[in-house]
Amino acid sequence: MNQSREPKPCDSLTSYAFPTDNKLGEFYWRWFKLVIGFFLLASSLLVFYTTLSSQFHLKCLKCSEPVTNPDVRIGTETVSVEPTNISHIVFGIGGSAATWKNRSRYSELWWRPGQTRGFVWLDKRPSGNDTWPEKSPPYRISADSSRFRGSRSAVRIARIVAESVRLGMEGVRWYVMGDDDTVFVTENLVSVLGRYDHEEFYYVGGVSESVEQDVMHSYGMAFGGGGFAISYGLARELARVLDDCLVRYASFYGSDQRVHACLTEFGVPLTAEAGFHQVDLRGNIYGLLAAHPLAPLVSLHHLDSVVPIIPGRTQHDALQSILGAARSDPSRILQQTFCYDRQRNWSVSVSWGYTAQIYTRILTPKDLSTPLRTFSTWRSYHEGPFTFNTRAWPKDPCDRPLVYLVDRVHDLGKGGTRSSYLREKNETQLSKECARSKQVAALKIETVAVFAPKMRRDEWRKALRRHCCDVHHEARHKNGIKVTIRKCHPSESLSPP
Ligand SMILES: *[C@@H]1O[C@H](CO)[C@@H](O)[C@H](O)[C@H]1NC(C)=O
Ligand SMILES: *[C@@H]1O[C@H](CO)[C@@H](O)[C@H](O)[C@H]1NC(C)=O
Ligand SMILES: *[C@@H]1O[C@H](CO)[C@@H](O)[C@H](O)[C@H]1NC(C)=O
Ligand SMILES: *[C@@H]1O[C@H](CO)[C@@H](O)[C@H](O)[C@H]1NC(C)=O
Ligand SMILES: *[C@@H]1O[C@H](CO)[C@@H](O)[C@H](O)[C@H]1NC(C)=O
Repeated sequence: MNQSREPKPCDSLTSYAFPTDNKLGEFYWRWFKLVIGFFLLASSLLVFYTTLSSQFHLKCLKCSEPVTNPDVRIGTETVSVEPTNISHIVFGIGGSAATWKNRSRYSELWWRPGQTRGFVWLDKRPSGNDTWPEKSPPYRISADSSRFRGSRSAVRIARIVAESVRLGMEGVRWYVMGDDDTVFVTENLVSVLGRYDHEEFYYVGGVSESVEQDVMHSYGMAFGGGGFAISYGLARELARVLDDCLVRYASFYGSDQRVHACLTEFGVPLTAEAGFHQVDLRGNIYGLLAAHPLAPLVSLHHLDSVVPIIPGRTQHDALQSILGAARSDPSRILQQTFCYDRQRNWSVSVSWGYTAQIYTRILTPKDLSTPLRTFSTWRSYHEGPFTFNTRAWPKDPCDRPLVYLVDRVHDLGKGGTRSSYLREKNETQLSKECARSKQVAALKIETVAVFAPKMRRDEWRKALRRHCCDVHHEARHKNGIKVTIRKCHPSESLSPP
């Protein structure tokens, strides 16, 4: 904090008591007072000037309240006077006239007409007879970029950020780029960006989950499908030089790589945030979503390339469930909590709004927080490596968790939420293979009910700590368990029994 820049409380000059020295002549004493007076006046003017030039509120003129610095700097993060909200973000979605009809189902999941601002940028006018979908972002046609060498579409999409800046929209703090199949949780995007000073140079996003992709493209680049944000201060500068810069990187593969290269010329590194998900993964991303890192979920991508995240539903329906849950408590969506049933030696894990798991044995918190590898790498379909640790999906059915998937989320207002999770039908079948009595006993549990307080958004500004939970068995619910989520006590730790 900038304590040192706080001006002193206003003291009037007359309140300073000078010892009158009788040995000094009257003349010298007056002269002395004049010099000191002048000196004090000059320093007050200096303080006043500093106050003005650093945009302090001139509260000291009232002399009643202490001056607070409106931009409190915490590390590299800045808390702005007026909190960042959705209207401060301008989205730039890379689309194309040919595919928008199909892809619009993704943006319609998160776009809020009248609240979210921005455009989907198309290569050409959509065909004449089609009316533009009402729930879609409005469209713009990208400027001609045929003079550039290299991939036409990559250049066009890289230029969206500059074209967005040139629209000169009012009150913009962030330009957020995304693909036409990126799904954003806008509340969490706002939480994340609100931690940074938009006047400074920030480039916020995430790398690919598949190491092979990061090796090929870059470990320092925000992958475009996961979406990335460029602060207003930086976007303005980038827009000025982008076209000249793009010429140098004509041989690059994607638009995200081009933008990254141009930002490198400004010396601006990626600020990685763990909630942006490029989803460069194949198969089932269940394991990742069941053990999400301790960070707000900002985006998901490539959802056409992975199996539906809730079996037996379409991907669109499954996402609707997750985003529906997020509306009740956006900060908590996919936040993992785990606890033990110490009587039965069970481990219970909840990824709020999505899934619950019961293991009929004790796993360490280290294992519980490590994603199960239910997916493979993007390009080579290998078991890894990934940019995070994983653990194998157990071959022995007795070691697998019983899986429960979100059924309903009730918003209890100030009382928090009650969410219920039903055992995955197919899991019954799989678990039947395990004849161990403990597992068979657990199979009676068909539902997991989770009670949770709403998570405060400002928790993301503080030191992070996973929440704690308790497992309850109620005599009247033989086929269900109840889990209550709460903040941990300061000295609480989850030691396995
Ligand atoms: C967002 O903040 C601005 C102040 O910067 C305010 O005028 C506006 O009403 C806020 N919008 C919402 C949706 O809260
Ligand atoms: C939309 O795209 C998906 C995935 O690529 C495809 O399976 C589906 O058939 C497409 N639908 C239409 C209407 O084109
Ligand atoms: C547009 O509408 C006209 C008349 O309704 C029809 O003849 C034409 O085939 C339509 N074109 C497309 C691309 O759907
Ligand atoms: C739970 O585990 C502890 C330690 O391994 C053991 O002593 C206890 O008997 C177990 N309880 C049940 C119900 O399995
Ligand atoms: C159930 O699991 C089996 C084996 O994993 C799989 O082949 C099958 O498609 C699943 N059925 C459903 C309805 O998901």
